[in-house]
Amino acid sequence: MSVKAKKSPTKTKVRKEREVPEVKLIPVYVMGKRYEVPEGLTLMKAMEYAGYRFIRGCGCRGGTCGACGTVYRKPGDYKLQVALACQKTVEPDMYITQIPFFPANRAQYEFAELTSAPEEVFKLYPELFRCVACNACTKACPQGIQVMDAISALKQGNIAEASRLSFECIQCGLCTSRCFGELAQYHMFQLARRIYGARIVPRAEHLADMVKAVNEGKYDNILNELKRVKKDELTKLYQEREEEPVTAGEDWRPKDKTYL
Ligand code: FES
Repeated sequence: MSVKAKKSPTKTKVRKEREVPEVKLIPVYVMGKRYEVPEGLTLMKAMEYAGYRFIRGCGCRGGTCGACGTVYRKPGDYKLQVALACQKTVEPDMYITQIPFFPANRAQYEFAELTSAPEEVFKLYPELFRCVACNACTKACPQGIQVMDAISALKQGNIAEASRLSFECIQCGLCTSRCFGELAQYHMFQLARRIYGARIVPRAEHLADMVKAVNEGKYDNILNELKRVKKDELTKLYQEREEEPVTAGEDWRPKDKTYL
């Protein structure tokens, strides 16, 4: 015979009413349609709140992948603005449209066949010289890159300077979307950085020496020994390893120099 346990009234859970903070809704227009969204959201979250689902045009959500280029216009302003949807917050009556892909010219090349001559860039992107130095690209850049200056460096054949200036480029394409000369600045910069990294920047000799030493088997014994060690011991070895102090100078060396 089974006996049903009676519910103890003392054990009855009392649900606490959760306090919901008051949210102010503001009107925005996504691709021309009006929605009310909570104040303080990013454009991306506001669009999601409005029911849009991102299949493209959304990546890192942290302002580093460049996937979420967006154009918007504020009420009473004739000016079209650009921003990253994951970074910019909504403002009342904003008109927002995302441009997840910008159909810019991207030259095709076999990188192995390219030299460090600036003419390589000129040949692949002759439109480089259509730049009218209006600086609209710089104003559009969400990364604060001096885009026009980098283009100017490229025109002068200074690939190193163009690479340095465009180092923070996240390839969102917003510069190109505003360019009068129809330049695909971000693709040009990518080519410049590739050439700079592979053909211009000096080789790291110490790295080449280390790769050679690894290939010659200098570390085979210690690596094989470590492979045999149990996990706990390996953890202990790792935790007790001698670390290079943060303030160490160039001449710092570990006490055990066996594997240097
Ligand atoms: S989602 Fe990556 S930059 Fe916005």
